[in-house]
Amino acid sequence: MNRLWLGKRLVELDACPSTSDEACRLAESGAEHGTVVVARSQSGGRGRLGRSWHSPVGAGLYMSCILRLPMKAEALPPVTLAAGVAVCETARSFHVPARLKWPNDVVVPIDHAPAEVRAMGGQKLAGILTEMHSRGGKVEYAVLGIGLNVGDMHPPPELASRITSLSQWSGPSDPSEVVDMLLDRLERRLDQFAAGDLATIRDEWHAMSAMADARVEICGGAKTITGAVRGLTRSGGLDVVTDDGQSIEVVSGEVHILDPGEPHE
Ligand code: BTN
Repeated sequence: MNRLWLGKRLVELDACPSTSDEACRLAESGAEHGTVVVARSQSGGRGRLGRSWHSPVGAGLYMSCILRLPMKAEALPPVTLAAGVAVCETARSFHVPARLKWPNDVVVPIDHAPAEVRAMGGQKLAGILTEMHSRGGKVEYAVLGIGLNVGDMHPPPELASRITSLSQWSGPSDPSEVVDMLLDRLERRLDQFAAGDLATIRDEWHAMSAMADARVEICGGAKTITGAVRGLTRSGGLDVVTDDGQSIEVVSGEVHILDPGEPHE
């Protein structure tokens, strides 16, 4: 363990509704920066856009970190990209060919994937959910929730073709074998983020992206936009040239990959 602050207090639970709810509760009662909650199962694991997160016992890593970062609320969103880089690096250290899909997915591309898996950039290995509590425009605390599929996830039929796990790629099957490595990498990337080194995070993210030069469809709000991804903007949004030639920054929404383009490495 090479860490200075992340996970110095590690709260290990057998089961809970959601590690992010638990972390939020601890933060409200004053838990310090870097406190980490992990659970062997979640009964109400939450994902982005109101989705649930499949959290069977002992199969996935379910983790939430309390971050007290003294910054403006508007500067926080790229923390999700920093965490994505750390999760992707962790997967790759087990030789899992993971890639990143904006804004918060870690996926593994597969050959002959069905259309809905191609649209996600591959089968989903991990997801990140950042929740912020702010006051007067400043971050009071954030809860960075990470779900990483590690062992046999026993997916329900509707998820079976859409998700993968480290063990399916000959990685470890026990989530406890992954915690330290992920926290080490996460602390390093979070330090870069806190120091304002977004350029490094953007470069690393881009190098591991599942959507470099991809043609995408962005759904969100009233209209759907199609265009080509150029990369990330300075603030961590998606830099897209629309089919009618406009350069736009996408800051939220659901991105579907229509054509993945060529990976950059
Ligand atoms: C997503 O891809 O939609 C994000 C999924 C985040 C899931 C993790 S599991 C640990 C933490 N607790 C939760 O309830 N959600 C996050």
